[in-house]
Amino acid sequence: MHDPGRSAPWTGPRRELDKSALYGDVTRELDALLSGEPDPVANAANAAAALYHALPELNWAGFYFLRGEELVLGPFQGRPACVRIALGRGVCGTAAAERRSIVVPDVEAFPGHIACDAASRSELVVPLLSGDTLLGVLDLDSPKPGRFDETDRAGCEAIAQVIVRHLAR
Ligand code: SME
Repeated sequence: MHDPGRSAPWTGPRRELDKSALYGDVTRELDALLSGEPDPVANAANAAAALYHALPELNWAGFYFLRGEELVLGPFQGRPACVRIALGRGVCGTAAAERRSIVVPDVEAFPGHIACDAASRSELVVPLLSGDTLLGVLDLDSPKPGRFDETDRAGCEAIAQVIVRHLAR
């Protein structure tokens, strides 16, 4: 539930935590933020805003949801983005088709990368899986090359599980 008086990783000023501790904090607080609200659009919107403001050095954070055989843009923070991505295309479509997280240290080196914001230099995409059902992907972009590592991947996979619990009803 949203409580403007509650301190969370997305309420400034940002606390100095190591990356693992930050992810633990974000995961817990996100669960609290989304609890009690059944609307999936509201929860995806608040999750995108929370991640954009809590995680450093991002220029885009948001969702693509599976609609038939393609991904369609969902709630996000950042510049306007491409709306539809076919399964298997780009980083998002590849992560969705292969149902695995993908860390891209240099987007220009990823074959078929879809450039939505010219400022993006690195990217992390995590599939949203509810059991065997693919709901879509969580996509984070950074203007910094090599912004995402294995700690980010593990942290965002844990975050994706929390988000899925508050989307799939
Ligand atoms: N770069 C993504 C497209 C989505 S935007 O980054 C928001 C991709 O290659 O799938």
